[in-house]
Amino acid sequence: MSEIQFPLSVGESPLEEARPVRHSQQTMTQLMTPLDGNLRGSVFGGVILAAVDKIAYVCATRHAGCPTVTASFDQVDFRSPIEIGEVVTLEASVNYVGTTSVEVGVRVMAESVSGGDARHTNSCYVTMVAVDEQGKPKAIPKLILEDETQHRRYLDARERRRARLKLAEERRRRRESRGLES
Ligand SMILES: CC(C)(COP(=O)(O)OP(=O)(O)OC[C@H]1O[C@@H](n2cnc3c(N)ncnc32)[C@H](O)[C@@H]1OP(=O)(O)O)[C@@H](O)C(=O)NCCC(=O)NCCS
Repeated sequence: MSEIQFPLSVGESPLEEARPVRHSQQTMTQLMTPLDGNLRGSVFGGVILAAVDKIAYVCATRHAGCPTVTASFDQVDFRSPIEIGEVVTLEASVNYVGTTSVEVGVRVMAESVSGGDARHTNSCYVTMVAVDEQGKPKAIPKLILEDETQHRRYLDARERRRARLKLAEERRRRRESRGLES
């Protein structure tokens, strides 16, 4: 049995305020039309990425209580094509909060417009940063985890964040060594 007592408040922000995961969870449904398609009749990956960015924005901004910007997208693998005429459903949740940033996990599913089995086409992890009026990073409320699933997602997201920031730092050093860093 778990020794963790829920609810559990996590995050690095100096703010007292904390919000539960459910406060910002989002679901969005979209019909894929010919405007979204390539010449083969399936949907452009970029259409899905735009929808992911939008739902991540709503989710992160709802948690932060102020505007957020997209800092990074983790690698996205599409498991199967999405066809024109299918309905795409996106579900978004805050997995992790730092001081000014949140990781939003977005699960994408597709199904026939008339219903049936929905298939999982891809998941994305998006880092969004809360900003003030000058566009500078701004502290956000902590996150309240209420169950084991949210805690597991939080721990996984913490590992991803370490790897992501390490990679970003390595890239910065490489650019710097080539004289490309401003
Ligand atoms: C995102 C942005 C606000 C970060 O500003 P910054 O001055 O580099 O901020 P900091 O180094 O103080 O980092 C702020 C937070 O962003 C996170 N962050 C910065 N770069 C990141 C990256 N490449 N990947 C993931 N997180 C990142 C940091 O970990 C930190 O999180 P924390 O406060 O929770 O620990 C800034 O780079 C920016 O405005 N980028 C453009 C965003 C945008 O316009 N997006 C849409 C593109 S069309």
